[in-house]
Amino acid sequence: MKPQTIAVLDFGSQYAQLIARRVRDLRVHGVLCAPDVSPDELRRLHTVGIILSGGPASVYAEDAPRCRADLFQTGLPMLGICYGLQVMCAMLGGNVGAGRLHEYGRSELTIDKPNPLLEGVPSPTPVWMSHGDMVSAVSEGFEPIARTKTCPLAVVAHTGKPLFGVQFHPEVTHTPHGTRLLRNFLYNVCRCDGGWTVGRVVDNILEDIRNQVDNDARIICGLSGGVDSSVTAALLHRVAGDRLVCICVDNGLMRQGEIELVRKTFTDHFRIDLRVVDAGERFLSALTGVTNPRTKRQIIGREFIEVFKAEAKAIDGAKYLAQGTLYPDVIESGHGHAGEAAEIKLHHNVGGLPKELGFELIEPLRDLFKDEVRRVGEHLGLPYEILWRHPFPGPGLAVRIIGEITAARLELLRRIDTIVLDEIVAEGWYPKIAQAFVVLLPVRTVGVMGDEQSYEDQHVAVLRFVESSDFMTADWVHLDHELLGRISTRVMNEVAGVNRVVYDISSKPPSTIEWE
Ligand code: XMP
Repeated sequence: MKPQTIAVLDFGSQYAQLIARRVRDLRVHGVLCAPDVSPDELRRLHTVGIILSGGPASVYAEDAPRCRADLFQTGLPMLGICYGLQVMCAMLGGNVGAGRLHEYGRSELTIDKPNPLLEGVPSPTPVWMSHGDMVSAVSEGFEPIARTKTCPLAVVAHTGKPLFGVQFHPEVTHTPHGTRLLRNFLYNVCRCDGGWTVGRVVDNILEDIRNQVDNDARIICGLSGGVDSSVTAALLHRVAGDRLVCICVDNGLMRQGEIELVRKTFTDHFRIDLRVVDAGERFLSALTGVTNPRTKRQIIGREFIEVFKAEAKAIDGAKYLAQGTLYPDVIESGHGHAGEAAEIKLHHNVGGLPKELGFELIEPLRDLFKDEVRRVGEHLGLPYEILWRHPFPGPGLAVRIIGEITAARLELLRRIDTIVLDEIVAEGWYPKIAQAFVVLLPVRTVGVMGDEQSYEDQHVAVLRFVESSDFMTADWVHLDHELLGRISTRVMNEVAGVNRVVYDISSKPPSTIEWE
């Protein structure tokens, strides 16, 4: 049975994904939809309620996005948030005007009338505002429910229909009772059954895969050992058993022990037909003499496709290719509703393998966020080390060796990286950090070892530890100084060829997480 859905209409708000996320956290299937989604499409999705997101436009601007007018005839409950409230009011005959004061940040909400939407929300209560325009008059049938000092219509509700609007943002953590409000909308208004559990998510994904694939065709899955491709492989294995063949391209740019972990997990534990292609030398020779980050990425992407193609060709009867594309990948690569994202770096595996390979794509994680994927992975019995490992870029250590990549520098970086990870895991920091890694610089610096000057054959190792929830922004980790000191001492004592260890204290933006 298909789950009940809450459709979040994306008017271009930076928070639209977050709203869908909050809905899922409340055990209801929340999906993002285009602003002009049709009632038919909503019916197909088993929609039980609609949330209109915020957005940067002004409702009366020429190309301001609106929803279809016939959505108001569906009888579905609707909650407008910020711009979503303004759209709803403007389309139903109310008035939206420029606010006297722009309101950004914390404000205090006073509730004047009890309403099921605000059940259990105290008055006054802090709310997070971010708007210029606001509703100045509502049409007949709507009544004011709550206000802030600058916004008299901060919460409105219709007296005869399940239509609600809030000017503030209940989805952000700065609105402490925002989750309660969303829960009220889902359960008091939309009468959701709360059945969106991980077991249900997995059942639905498996059903979709079964509907998509022919019973006798084989499926290929590219496996990098990261969370997304691992969960994808485990899901496909449930449906296709030994019709699934996984290909892992060992590009020689992985961390210590990664390929062994993949082999152990998928061959020994899941008994999946896994083909590891040892292509390290091929990649290394293609990268000889290359120092430009973009060129490195292009070469690695190209070689990966060539190697993958050759291996895939050798698999008879393969019709499908499974990829671990996640929801944020769909959005970030510009296929979402919110428009194109500027290209900062060329992510070779986000665009996926080219169409000319001739396979039909299966993307079972397309609607999920990272932590949901992890929950699915846990449910399927994937090991902790795979599910909770830090993200690792497709081009691997190549973008962490600044300047030319050689076998010796790769080996050096691997040894440093292993020590760093050892220490961080031992001290319990690993799960608290989004990404921890080492970058090797092409500059030499003077050091002193014994009574000798050290300079030739010496490297500078940069420690890069960041915290981030979505990897779009990040901050450096305020790591314990004792631990930093211990890592530095171990690296310089145990790895010949490093005479300086430095700590990167740049946030993203303006830096990026990786150095290249
Ligand atoms: P940046 O360096 O752009 O990284 O701040 C953001 C996140 O993306 C990872 N990253 C990649 N992931 N293929 C990937 O799958 C790539 O080519 C790639 N480049 C960067 C990076 O490690 C961080 O998590």
